[in-house]
Amino acid sequence: MAGVTLKNVCKSYDSVQVINDVSLEIADGEFCVFVGPSGCGKSTLLRMIAGLEDITTGDMKIGGRRVNELAPSERNVSMVFQSYALYPHMDVAQNMAFGLKLAGVSKEDIQSRVAGIASMLQIDRFLKRKPRALSGGQRQRVAIGRALVRDPEVFLFDEPLSNLDAALRTQTRVEIARLHKEYAKASTIYVTHDQVEAMTLADKIVLLNTGADVAKYGSVAQIGSPLELYERPGSVFVAGFLGSPKMNFLDGTVDAVTAAGVQIKTRDGFLLRANVQAKDVAIGDKVQLGVRPEHVEHATTATGNNVMQRTIQWVEHLGDCTYAYLEGDRSVPMIVRLHASSRVAAGEVMSIHVPMGNAHVFREDGRALPRLWG
Ligand SMILES: Nc1ncnc2c1ncn2[C@@H]1O[C@H](COP(=O)(O)OP(=O)(O)OP(=O)(O)O)[C@@H](O)[C@H]1O
Ligand SMILES: [Mg+2]
Repeated sequence: MAGVTLKNVCKSYDSVQVINDVSLEIADGEFCVFVGPSGCGKSTLLRMIAGLEDITTGDMKIGGRRVNELAPSERNVSMVFQSYALYPHMDVAQNMAFGLKLAGVSKEDIQSRVAGIASMLQIDRFLKRKPRALSGGQRQRVAIGRALVRDPEVFLFDEPLSNLDAALRTQTRVEIARLHKEYAKASTIYVTHDQVEAMTLADKIVLLNTGADVAKYGSVAQIGSPLELYERPGSVFVAGFLGSPKMNFLDGTVDAVTAAGVQIKTRDGFLLRANVQAKDVAIGDKVQLGVRPEHVEHATTATGNNVMQRTIQWVEHLGDCTYAYLEGDRSVPMIVRLHASSRVAAGEVMSIHVPMGNAHVFREDGRALPRLWG
């Protein structure tokens, strides 16, 4: 087993910089998820670790060994591609055995390893079938099995579940988590744009920036445990990326500053306090107040601390809960998660309470003010 270290890693194609200054440490056995919007460079970064793409500048180590110039086969990593990349003319057993055969492993050894992994992944019934005679989910398991039999030091997964339907995606996600915990405790790097996969699988999330932020702040938006990123997002981008439905953002200005936090005046004149440090802000500064749909409460009174009113535009009953879509800012509705039995209707004015311990504040440049607690 081996940890992975990246130090000031950059990647450019001619004049286009795709990855800007990534430094991170993935501990031995850790499950690390790279997540971010389409085109932010997740696959590129993973392929650089696999050795399939050159590193323009910076240093990369696997198990303490510098691998910048090493070929993929010398890095002891196994990669599972989004497209599965199975050999169509080989059956399942041959597909799984191929890498071992190249590595010169004995026939008996190959057979027993393939049989063991195939039975664990419940694909032992298909060993003699060609990939075209398998469903997407079964092919995915073969691709995972092929990576597992090689018993690598590092597993690399590039969006392995994106071709599966919703039910199978959830099932395979749980399987991958279980495999990592119980069987292959190798360091794992998993790429996805799905924030639920990132939240549920990761020990550590690396959220990547996109667009102009890459040149401005570097490729890494934030690194941390799922809950760290969820509860303490460092920027409006991170806050909006993790969580579904998304965090609500209300435009406002700083109205007052106290030891317990910052008081914001919304564009419609409500005063909302947030338990955040008034770091680098002054009264009158434009800010955004962020609060997640699950933290907003249906208020029983029309007035009181951190109570405001907005008109309901739409209501969705999901069975387990109800979402009220209130008039929001910048043409984005403000979403409130309510009890399933809530009887609210479009057109009504709703009183809501924004708990100050759950309120985030972001400066105009997108940086978060540090939260005092919660
Ligand atoms: N050979 C290349 N030449 C120039 N630009 C490239 C090349 N390969 C990739 N890119 C660019 O690099 C950026 C990152 O691509 P990458 O495939 O790593 O993104 P991603 O985060 O994996 O996206 P997705 O979620 O859509 O898979 C993209 O903007 C892409 O257009
Ligand atoms: Mg990709």
